[in-house]
Formats: sequence, C-alpha cells, structure tokens
Amino acid sequence: MSATLTKQPLTTERSSSYAARIDHVSKSFGRPGAQQQVLDDIALDVAPGEFVCLLGASGCGKSTLLNLVAGLDKPTAGSIDVPGGRPALMFQEHALFPWLTAGKNIELALRMRGVPRGSRRTEAERLLGLVRLNGSYGKRVHELSGGMRQRVALARALAQDSKLLLMDEPFAALDAITRDVLHDELTRIWAETHVSVLFVTHNVREAVRLAQRVVLLSSRPGRIAREWDVEIPQPRRIEDAAVADLSVEITEQLRGEIRRHGQH
Ligand SMILES: Nc1ncnc2c1ncn2[C@@H]1O[C@H](COP(=O)(O)OP(=O)(O)O)[C@@H](O)[C@H]1O
Ligand SMILES: [Mg+2]
Repeated sequence: MSATLTKQPLTTERSSSYAARIDHVSKSFGRPGAQQQVLDDIALDVAPGEFVCLLGASGCGKSTLLNLVAGLDKPTAGSIDVPGGRPALMFQEHALFPWLTAGKNIELALRMRGVPRGSRRTEAERLLGLVRLNGSYGKRVHELSGGMRQRVALARALAQDSKLLLMDEPFAALDAITRDVLHDELTRIWAETHVSVLFVTHNVREAVRLAQRVVLLSSRPGRIAREWDVEIPQPRRIEDAAVADLSVEITEQLRGEIRRHGQH
C-alpha cells in the first residue's frame, strides 16, 4: 500500500514466513492463589496475506488473545512474534474522535505513521475511496451511519499501513444487511491490499463467510479445539449452501464445546 509515501517504521521489520506467531501462549488473570486461567497453550501462526477467523463462545478469551497479539498485554507463558511491526486494530466500537471529521481522523493515523503533512490529504481521500466513502472527507462522526463509521474506522486502521490487521468483532453491532455489505468490502480490500487478518468473532456464519481458516477456541480455559480450512471460493455470500453446510458443522462442534465447559 502507498509505497511512494515516506514511512517511519515503528519497529524494525523482518521478513518472515508468518505475519504473527502465537507460540504456546497461556494467560491467567488475578492475584497469585486466586488465578483464573483464560488461555491455555495456544499455538497458531497467521501466514503472510492469510485471513484467519478466531471463533469461540463469548468469554472464551478471544479478545484476551487478540490483545496479546496487539502487544497491549503480556502472556503469562509462551511468546508472541509479529515480525512486520506494530499491527493495526479495529474494534466493535469505532473509537473515532467525534470532534474530528472522517478525513481528519484518518490523517491523524497517517501523521502517527510519519506521513508528511503535504501528502496526508491525498492519502486520506484515497483510503476513503478504498472503503467507498468518497465525498465523506468533511463529515463528522455524528453525521455518519453505524456502517459508515466502521468504514472510516477500517480506513483509519489501513492508514497505519500495517502488515497485520487485528479485528475484534468489528461488525457485531451492525444490522445484518449492513454487516453483509461490509463483509463484501473487507473481502475485496483484503484481496487488494494483501494484508494479513486475524478476525475475532462469535458468529459462525461470519467466520465461514470471511476466512481462509477458521480456528475454534474452547472455553475455560481457551484452547484450540479444532481448525477448518475454508476452500469455498470468494466472493462468498452468507446464504451460500456451502457456507451454510460448513456453518452447521462448526456450530455443532461449538455447541459441544459449550456443553463440555459450561454455559455463558
Ligand atoms: N484484564 C482482565 N482482568 C481479569 N479478567 C479478565 C481481564 N480481561 C479478560 N478477563 C476475563 O477473561 C475471560 C475472557 O475474556 P475475553 O477475552 O474478553 O473473552 P471474549 O472476547 O472471548 O468474549 C473472561 O472471563 C474475562 O472476565
Ligand atoms: Mg471479546
């Protein structure tokens, strides 16, 4: 993306066979003696350019794991390696600054990345075009619909020009039709940018709609229960028979995990 712009890497980039390596990671919270183990021995690589969905029941530790990959917290055991520098993040809440316009929110991320002032406006417009929000540069957050806000949040994440995009249930608060449209946009942008994506969701259909690989986490503690390679060609539709069939299979396994480890 935007190779012509000067860029100050936040960390040294190394070439590697993976975009992220989660190496036998465990995580516990709480005081010694009263600890709750949330993640147990998670081992997972995300390949460069790969789209991986991390699926699991609410409370199973998905956000905890994503925060560890983001470097926002440290594992209790094991290690995380993200060789391409700091990952970009996108959450369910857009976290845009309400006093800034859509364009200025994106320009702030460009500034943090070290993009020179003179190039920021053009680059912000390009990123708004990428998420199909041409003409929304001057709009304030309150003027945008929920779907449009998440588009701006996605453009701002892409403005970091990271090799790895971490997404934590980014479309969970949207209505089904808007979510469906954003699935199409994300699939297209992923194909265009070759960014690696680690996408967290509790929605089985969403995982099968988007991912090349679905990784199912069990609960209490979170462990990798099973993985599926999704070979259904993109672009997929959420109502495709193949998407529905695999979703049924994964849902059965997920139900089994919830039965084994208690309700939420
Ligand atoms: N900072 C924290 N301190 C203590 N417990 C936490 C913390 N963060 C998460 N947890 C606990 O870890 C478990 C998993 O949480 P989370 O990763 O948010 O699940 P998910 O994203 O899968 O819904 C929950 O029981 C939660 O209460
Ligand atoms: Mg969560």
